[in-house]
Amino acid sequence: MLSFIEEDFSLVHRNTLGIQARARYFASARSVEEIREALRFAGDRHLPVAVLGGGSNTVFADDYIDGLVLAVDLEGVHFHGRAVEVAAGENWHELVMETLRRDLYGLENLSLIPGYVGAAPIQNIGAYGAELDRYFVSLDAIDRQSLDLVTMDSADCQFGYRDSIFKHDLKDRMIIVRVRLSLDDTFEANLTYDDLRTEIEATHGSAGTSPTAMDISDAVCRLRRRKLPDPEQIGNVGSFFKNPEVSEARYRRLLRQWPGLPSWPTSRGVKLSAAWMIEHLDLKGRAVGDAQVSSRHALVLVNAGHAQSADVLALAATVQESVKDRFDVELEIEPVIYRRI
Ligand code: EPU
Repeated sequence: MLSFIEEDFSLVHRNTLGIQARARYFASARSVEEIREALRFAGDRHLPVAVLGGGSNTVFADDYIDGLVLAVDLEGVHFHGRAVEVAAGENWHELVMETLRRDLYGLENLSLIPGYVGAAPIQNIGAYGAELDRYFVSLDAIDRQSLDLVTMDSADCQFGYRDSIFKHDLKDRMIIVRVRLSLDDTFEANLTYDDLRTEIEATHGSAGTSPTAMDISDAVCRLRRRKLPDPEQIGNVGSFFKNPEVSEARYRRLLRQWPGLPSWPTSRGVKLSAAWMIEHLDLKGRAVGDAQVSSRHALVLVNAGHAQSADVLALAATVQESVKDRFDVELEIEPVIYRRI
């Protein structure tokens, strides 16, 4: 067997939800060639393959994965002026910190998002008024069918809100190995997100000084630590549901019934706050087994102990049904679910 492949491997430390799943085989690949070798290993044995990054946006739907779990653990960061090329296995937040140390801007609003760089394009990570696609240039990925290395630009990736082609036409087809970004070399604070502006005003407003990129990053970290449960303390994968988008007409009808419902205009209609709807159904703290709707943030499901994947998925279904019943709105699950493969 290949030296970087292990048998009967516990995935508990490879998913931030802390599900006690096991894999028949587990490979931690550190190069493009090791990824290809692992894929050939699985191909020869007719084993299904599940690809894993930092495990911070992944839910194992089964407690046993009867195949190969392939972790993309490639490392390396290279800067050339405003351009940066990053291997998929680098930690996202550490990359953000390194860009700020080098006086490169744009990623500060995306501070403290858990996970690997390679997973960032899959869900077009976003927070506090910024999204990855604004800085994205291209990525290299291994095509799982041909084992060729292909380069994809922004248009190829079809980015949307927490969305890309890797969740649709190219689902389970590409393994992202490198990401290229182009950052700003002059700083302009992005304070479009109300909570962030309020947080910055509280510290800078009276002093009359303008915030630096590091001030914005610090404020984002404070907000995230205050609002979101820390996966180091209690297992979770961040927002479990996307904020749903509805038409303007639908929104106006909903608003008559629910005057406080927070919303944001989008190019296609209106985005609604899923957390607010869940909170108004009194679902905070609701549990199935050890899976629980976080008492801190209604959009997050946490593992309060030894939750099974079935508990998490049953709880998610309960939340979806309740929101559908009361608001007639469908909530879409945001993290990647590994179903039986
Ligand atoms: N709210 C509640 N109850 C709660 C939490 C929030 O009513 O328990 C209300 C707040 O009052 C606020 C609104 O919901 O008016 C929005 O809350 P928040 O600012 O926390 O943002 P969110 O829409 O719930 C999104 C992202 C987060 C991201 C934050 C900040 C999605 C699915 N989630 O959450 O992303 O950090 O905005 O930008 O878009 C993630 O993707 O994993 C994630 C955590």
